[in-house]
Amino acid sequence: MQDTRPVERAARDPWWRDAVVYQVYLRSFADGNGDGVGDFPGLRSRLPYLAGLGVDAVWVTPHYVSGGADGGYDVVDFTSVDPDYGTVEDVRGLVEDAHGLGLRVLLDIVPNHTSDRHEWFRRALADPDSPEAARYHFRPASEEPPNNWQSMFGGPAWSRTPDGRWYLHLFTPQQPDLNWTNPAVVEDFDRTLRFWFDLGVDGFRVDVAYGLFKDPEYRDNPGIYSPTLFGHGPEQAMTTNQPGVHDVWRRWRAICDSYADPKMLVGEVSLADLAEVGRYARPDELHHAFQFRLLKSDWDAASFADTITEALAAFDAVGAPAPWVLGNHDKARQVTRYGSLRRARAAALLMLALPGSAYLYAGEELGLPEADVPDQARRDPIFFRSGGKRAGRDGCRIPMPWEGGEENAGFSGATPWLPQPAGWAGYAVDRQESDPGSTLALYRQAILLRDLYPALGSGRASVTRTGDVVRVDLVAQSGEPGAVTCWINMGATPAGVPAHRLLLSSSPDVTGPVAGVLRLKADTAVWVTW
Ligand code: NOJ
Repeated sequence: MQDTRPVERAARDPWWRDAVVYQVYLRSFADGNGDGVGDFPGLRSRLPYLAGLGVDAVWVTPHYVSGGADGGYDVVDFTSVDPDYGTVEDVRGLVEDAHGLGLRVLLDIVPNHTSDRHEWFRRALADPDSPEAARYHFRPASEEPPNNWQSMFGGPAWSRTPDGRWYLHLFTPQQPDLNWTNPAVVEDFDRTLRFWFDLGVDGFRVDVAYGLFKDPEYRDNPGIYSPTLFGHGPEQAMTTNQPGVHDVWRRWRAICDSYADPKMLVGEVSLADLAEVGRYARPDELHHAFQFRLLKSDWDAASFADTITEALAAFDAVGAPAPWVLGNHDKARQVTRYGSLRRARAAALLMLALPGSAYLYAGEELGLPEADVPDQARRDPIFFRSGGKRAGRDGCRIPMPWEGGEENAGFSGATPWLPQPAGWAGYAVDRQESDPGSTLALYRQAILLRDLYPALGSGRASVTRTGDVVRVDLVAQSGEPGAVTCWINMGATPAGVPAHRLLLSSSPDVTGPVAGVLRLKADTAVWVTW
């Protein structure tokens, strides 16, 4: 960081418009009770680290009692805490500590399905005429499944009950889909929201927010899924993005807005059409709607530039901020996906410059690569349901390295639930903290500069591309001085770019500018001011 002229930032209200949100994979973040599994006490003890990183909020992946079939996304009881992770009191304590440090806490809510061990589903299985059976999608016994709908994890989306009925599950058979046309389902989730909001939780990440409703006539999808996880084109036309879902988000938004300090919602909207994604973030619906096109882009300047331009337009059209994400618990780590740490660092600078909110996935600030997980240690149902053809998502869910000299890199005194690969300690937080050139230092500097320069994160952007070089010009909305430009060279050869003053670079080999020109080697991004 060569220059940090502070500029008074305009009042940031509401907080979520340009927030940096840090996603914690609870099971892998920090183990407080020494059983090899991350938990709330562990997370609580590491909150000062997150405050020091400069993020605004923490999103915690599902913490409920679950059937353990899909990393906690098969919930048995929506107002519980899995004893592996602690107690409801631990959540209260986490929220109090977080607020004391100026951090918000978002939990993860899973409205599309429950666990097959949820008491509703147990009763529904026991009695086809029970009110609980009407909370799911059951179809009468028949030889063939009711239609061609496919599970996103592979295989048909229908399984049979012991008495021959079919039930719908868009994910594993242990995750039966709820029927959201049933008012009892709707009302029960209202209660769940209020339960956690009343405890002090600041909001939710909403799982499968583009799901919930299905074609009322159960018509075939026009095609079947591509093998890519979360492909999301017309092949899911009957199973996602049904019009009724928007009424649920209006209802939830009203609940959020009924609190003196309004709560916020960020929904997973894995649709290919960005204009459709934008509709979920209309002013009376979700605060943020994740679009995953950038996450799915290869290292390609045209793809990055086009995606950013289209996403900004889609969210601008509804007056919503764009939420950006390069990594999460469903996707291979950036370092491995892009092919190098150098590229992952450059992409991070690009993302953190863009207007809107940025979502970081725990460990990306350490430059963690995707880990090789031995088959016998794998947990992800995608691996098992594809008969081992798809590796699944365990490689991005490895326990965090904290102290390089400690057992299991400081994550736990006991064997971690997923094995850390050899060399993991080399990425540890304590090693990076003492290294000004570390990836952790880069993220800290970038987030600090977002706070100092209103053009970063909350500015207006214009995106241009020349060959493999993308330029994003950012000006503050309120007209404050401090325009910033982010340049990223995604090509194989060096590029000269005009610049007045270098603010931050993803790579130490950028120096200058000399005579108003900066030389960017391949796979490098910079922030410059004018
Ligand atoms: C999306 C979540 O991110 C993923 O991890 C989960 O498997 C599915 N939804 C099903 O809940």
